Amino acid sequence: MPSFRNELHLYDSEVALALEGEERRQQDGVELIPSENYTYPEVLELLGSVFTNKYSEGYPGRRYYGGQEFTDQIENLARQRACALFRAEHANVQPLSGSPMNQAVYLGLLKPGDTILAMDLSHGGHLTHGAPVSHMGRLFNFARYKTHPSKGGAIDFDELRATARRARPKLVLCGYSSYPRDLDYASFKSIADEVGALTMADVSHYGGLIAGNVLRNPLDAGFDIMTTTSHKTLRGPRGGIILCRREFAGKIDASVFPGLQGGPHMNVVAATAVTLKKATTSDYQTYARLVMRNAKVLAEALMERGMKLITGGTDNHMMVVDTVTSAGLDGGAAEDILDAVGVTANKQIIPDDPRPPLKPSGIRLGTPAATTRGMGEPEMRLIAELIAESLRSKGDAAVVRRLRAKSVEMCRAFPVPGIALPSKVGGPMN
Ligand SMILES: Cc1ncc(COP(=O)(O)O)c(C=O)c1O
Repeated sequence: MPSFRNELHLYDSEVALALEGEERRQQDGVELIPSENYTYPEVLELLGSVFTNKYSEGYPGRRYYGGQEFTDQIENLARQRACALFRAEHANVQPLSGSPMNQAVYLGLLKPGDTILAMDLSHGGHLTHGAPVSHMGRLFNFARYKTHPSKGGAIDFDELRATARRARPKLVLCGYSSYPRDLDYASFKSIADEVGALTMADVSHYGGLIAGNVLRNPLDAGFDIMTTTSHKTLRGPRGGIILCRREFAGKIDASVFPGLQGGPHMNVVAATAVTLKKATTSDYQTYARLVMRNAKVLAEALMERGMKLITGGTDNHMMVVDTVTSAGLDGGAAEDILDAVGVTANKQIIPDDPRPPLKPSGIRLGTPAATTRGMGEPEMRLIAELIAESLRSKGDAAVVRRLRAKSVEMCRAFPVPGIALPSKVGGPMN
């Protein structure tokens, strides 16, 4: 056991035991929440490094405090690498996470009360895309577009154009948290151009798949702004990156700092620089391809077992299962049963869901984390069996016990990067 662990155990055994419990949970469970991943050991190391001690308000060469020789170096590296990876003219790597990242764009480029045209939350949009419960939903006027279940979940661009002509948005926003298809960015851009709106894509979920060249890059279609978190498919530390055209660089930077945030987390910026270097490698491109392949295999295996998927499949890293139609269970109950089997998923509203958010009609599944561990097609088929059988049994105790044993056995063959300790037999996951 590393010596800091011994010290932590001696000083605060409650936190030390919780850390070990979480390690065991991550090692012995199948992680299918599509926004989660296992980051690199180098990232864990940098997050716990002395860069966390440093205040670096401002930007490289223009800081408010001294002692910035090395922080300037890492921030410049992260910005240059982000621009090269995503073919962008400017990058800001300081947003503390995905939500302030999006807020900084709206607040920097728009005025309160301006209209933003964005995807409906239940059809795949994110809270920061103007959900009424979010502050952004109160500050700006959001107009909505939806997907069409009858057209395989596609966006109807004729309808979207008509909505844009009526609403006259200042910003057309696309990107999603729970939509299992790729987007036609050229169509969004042509509609935005027609009504004189800026274009923004929030690719937080799939920035890593754009970096790996397996999904389209909105910047190639001439988008003004692209935002991505660094901790989902990109596999880095928790943070946000704003990419934009050069003409917006000044407004975006000023909006992040001093507009919205104080000192950036330089330990995260250092870890982001390494993450972006990793994302240029051929290993990473292979990873991105496997994430997509695993998602297809999992989706097909679930459908073969009679599970109903929203839009009838997936073209990216995630899928949404209608658990009410598939197994007579709301998403909250399904999440609990899967937790008991050692499969972590999240409850999910489906398009125009008649049910409330804590007991919605579905669950959301994704393959980025399982793929990082090296799981492949045989494991995806086994995971489909675990999900379909446990949900169909409605959580029958004997079935759950049998499936949990299978799931733990499978997981132990795939170590989680960054977890040095062998998982303890007889721990809470057994
Ligand atoms: C599309 C999208 N944008 C923004 C965010 C917000 O990111 P964070 O949770 O880091 O604030 C998320 C998080 O899931 C997301 O899916």
